[in-house]
Amino acid sequence: MSRLRLGVNIDHVATVRNARGGAFPDPVRAALLAEQSGADGITAHLREDRRHIRDEDIVALKRDLKIPLNLEMAATDEMLAIALRHKPHAACIVPEKREERTTEGGIDCIGQHNRLRPIVAALVEAGIRVSMFIEPDRKQLDAARALGAPVVELHTGAYANASGEAQAKLLKHIHNAAEFGADLGLEVHAGHGLTYDNVKPIAAMPHIRELNIGHFLVGEAIFAGLAESIQKMRTLMDEARQ
Ligand code: PXP
Repeated sequence: MSRLRLGVNIDHVATVRNARGGAFPDPVRAALLAEQSGADGITAHLREDRRHIRDEDIVALKRDLKIPLNLEMAATDEMLAIALRHKPHAACIVPEKREERTTEGGIDCIGQHNRLRPIVAALVEAGIRVSMFIEPDRKQLDAARALGAPVVELHTGAYANASGEAQAKLLKHIHNAAEFGADLGLEVHAGHGLTYDNVKPIAAMPHIRELNIGHFLVGEAIFAGLAESIQKMRTLMDEARQ
């Protein structure tokens, strides 16, 4: 089975920094430590309200990282201009509502086709690997492909929040969606809400090529340190893949 990449999302290091409005803890330092600790990429979400990552963080991440930067962004003209200016390795298009605490659902690639299409085209044209953050649903996968995006990231939040039979059912949806996406020729990623306890069944799915994990790792870093937390997640992913 192909090696599963781990993208570490450092947004919530910036959340802690911004709680005091100063410079500490520095999300760029966290990203560099993640790089040394086995992360295959760094993910950062520049939200419209700049509640965690700021514009200058994106500049520093692009300048200092050796591993790929994945910019999570809403499909707006402002974010498109920023992506085209900084040219991250990848851009993940997410829905964004100001009032939400986190990205609560996947983007609607069917209903928003006309709005998304020129944005995806401009990013692809600039050589940025575009992924669409979607619910694990066949119609959304078809629609992501119709947009010309080479990658999809399946939203694992509902699976992460569920338990028992409901969770088993959601796991099956993710599995089927990953297989369907790979058959369509899409590269399939997954993420949101993943922890040591729920990562293995997702990591074991052969069609998934990358996981993006943030909040749990940053929280766990308080107790064990960021390097150890990332290394432990890496080990669990590798074990699941064997
Ligand atoms: N992938 C995407 C597209 C996201 O929006 C997020 C959250 O910012 C994540 C992955 C990481 O989720 P979490 O912080 O819950 O691990």
